[in-house]
Amino acid sequence: MSLTPAIHALLPLSEEKSSLLTSLLDGLDAAALHWLSGYAAGLAVRRPAELHVLPTPATAGQNVPILSIVYGSQTGNSRHLAEQLKREAEASGLGVRLLRTGEYPLRELKNERLLYLIISTQGDGDPPDDARGLVEHLLSKRAPELKQLSFAVLALGDSSYPKFCETGRLLDERLAALGATRALLRVDCDLDFERDGKPWLIRALNSAREQLKPVAAVASIKTLRSVTGTAVYGRDNPFRAEVLASQRITGRDAQKDVRHIELSLADSGLTYSPGDALGVWPQNPPQLVNELLQTLKLDGSNEVEFEGRRLPLSRWLGGEREITRLARPFLATHAAHAGSTELNRLLAPASRDELAPSLRDYQVIDVLREWPALWSGEELVASLRRLTPRLYSIASSQKLVGDEVHLTLGTIDYQAFGSRHVGAASHFLATLDDDGRAPVYVEANERFRLPADASRDILMIGPGTGIAPFRAFVQERTAIGATGRNWLFFGEQHFASQFLYQLEWQDALKKGQLHRLDLAFSRDQAQKIYVQQRLREQGREVWSWLENGAHLYVCGDATRMAPDVHAALREIVIEHGGKSSEDADDYLARLSHENRYARDVY
Ligand SMILES: Cc1cc2nc3c(=O)[nH]c(=O)nc-3n(C[C@H](O)[C@H](O)[C@H](O)COP(=O)(O)OP(=O)(O)OC[C@H]3O[C@@H](n4cnc5c(N)ncnc54)[C@H](O)[C@@H]3O)c2cc1C
Ligand SMILES: Cc1cc2nc3c(=O)[nH]c(=O)nc-3n(C[C@H](O)[C@H](O)[C@H](O)COP(=O)(O)O)c2cc1C
Repeated sequence: MSLTPAIHALLPLSEEKSSLLTSLLDGLDAAALHWLSGYAAGLAVRRPAELHVLPTPATAGQNVPILSIVYGSQTGNSRHLAEQLKREAEASGLGVRLLRTGEYPLRELKNERLLYLIISTQGDGDPPDDARGLVEHLLSKRAPELKQLSFAVLALGDSSYPKFCETGRLLDERLAALGATRALLRVDCDLDFERDGKPWLIRALNSAREQLKPVAAVASIKTLRSVTGTAVYGRDNPFRAEVLASQRITGRDAQKDVRHIELSLADSGLTYSPGDALGVWPQNPPQLVNELLQTLKLDGSNEVEFEGRRLPLSRWLGGEREITRLARPFLATHAAHAGSTELNRLLAPASRDELAPSLRDYQVIDVLREWPALWSGEELVASLRRLTPRLYSIASSQKLVGDEVHLTLGTIDYQAFGSRHVGAASHFLATLDDDGRAPVYVEANERFRLPADASRDILMIGPGTGIAPFRAFVQERTAIGATGRNWLFFGEQHFASQFLYQLEWQDALKKGQLHRLDLAFSRDQAQKIYVQQRLREQGREVWSWLENGAHLYVCGDATRMAPDVHAALREIVIEHGGKSSEDADDYLARLSHENRYARDVY
């Protein structure tokens, strides 16, 4: 295989590497080529960030336009779709590059010919952390005219949030307002993002094929790429991990049941880095499946066909459909079935804010009980959302635990509407017995990484189960002999029953592996104390660590903790850094841009 210079410009390889590859492939038989492609796919799963192809519209030359796929992702969903599109585009012989929003060179926007943006919404209608810079730039007055640009937006979100797919919607409107031409209509994907996302990818690929000339010689790589990956475990092909340990780590009288879970990744080939999460495909609680069937007077053994698959209804409800989370589309169909004026009023656009808490608190069963209606098995399966995996921050370093992976699991178990409610994945994981296996995969998180320079200090703010990645961080830094200092802020309700991993932290302090530990137990005194208060109290010292180049990490609750911690940090920068509020915002934005302020919040 010899490539022309024009094609070299589009490949993710230097000329030197490409000629090495040519000589390596020379004379290999089909079996060896297949093995090699699978091996490369395995490496790709471990090193997604390094795989980005970075020809620019300029370097590729005006006569060989390329497709830029840019994704803004907090938990990997948009990234999965973007990577899939890139693979398909490459296999079609298109020149393509894949970039996350945080690494997109803004100055290249005005040269861009075809841009596909796949982006989720976080917080309360906010962009993913990584996309803040791009979104701010595009919405600002500095954004260039984009008459040369053809674009399309795929928005990911969760219809139970009032600002559903807000970031995608805003960007789609803004790009059009800047003069760019919509190649495709925007699609807003709900949590089962593959349902509407995959058809969009096909349309996007077809549109790109029409707009860009395929590069013939690149197309010849197609076979090599398309046979990859069958042996690699991932989101669509999870590894069934054995449970090695599952232990409650909160006291018996604690309100919260938090578990330390150890799983075996032996023989899976799966590896992870501190900061990554483990994806878990749950089974719904069998008790809840039975209650649903009884309430609807349906027989679980009846087979139901949907999208070309035929399964007993109980299996659809047990492992294929979301029944612990309520979604707006299901509620809308149910309102029609039940003929309920109250539900229809709640679903009206004017009631969006009023509906949000119900979507959070109600499970499907509560709706069926409160507004009874008849459903057939077929309708039910078609209306419920596809079950989606849950993510758990990994709480171990492989340098210490080898092929194990540890999690810190907060179980969702509460009384509401007169009955017990449990979360699908937390209940599934917490009730797996010794012989149980959990279908898992590793979800890399390149934005939440320890500093490459191990002499840098780190500040870790992780109340509740937010502690998980910091256990991994401290294990890793100890194993590699990092010389930078480690400072942990932890909080919970009570010291006596909820100080997660207390003995480990005390031991780490004694051994000099943890240098500072600040604790906030909110309910041990009359006045509530949270980690953000501890941060403020230590403001001068926090500022001095930051000025000294420390990296700052926040993990845990996204609703209250993360915004409160952000506000406390802002105050610290104003007070101890002597900055105006605007400059403090810029300071924190710069830290974030430099990957020195990373958040993993949920
Ligand atoms: C990047 C990332 C990392 C994460 N890391 C961790 C981690 O380390 N540890 C961890 O425990 N979790 C972690 N999570 C959260 C985890 O992914 C699940 O969301 C969580 O375990 C709940 O899932 P579930 O399937 O048990 O509950 P679900 O079945 O998803 O939820 C059940 C229902 O209960 C509702 N609900 C939940 N809590 C309450 C409550 N207290 N009162 C009333 N209603 C409630 C929900 O709105 C939902 O409708 C992480 C999430 C992300 C995105
Ligand atoms: C803490 C948190 C806040 C979220 N806020 C919103 C929101 O305001 N609007 C929305 O449509 N989706 C919201 N979502 C849902 C995500 O957009 C959805 O899970 C999406 O699939 C994530 O894609 P990503 O992994 O590419 O980030 C939120 C999710 C989380 C975890």
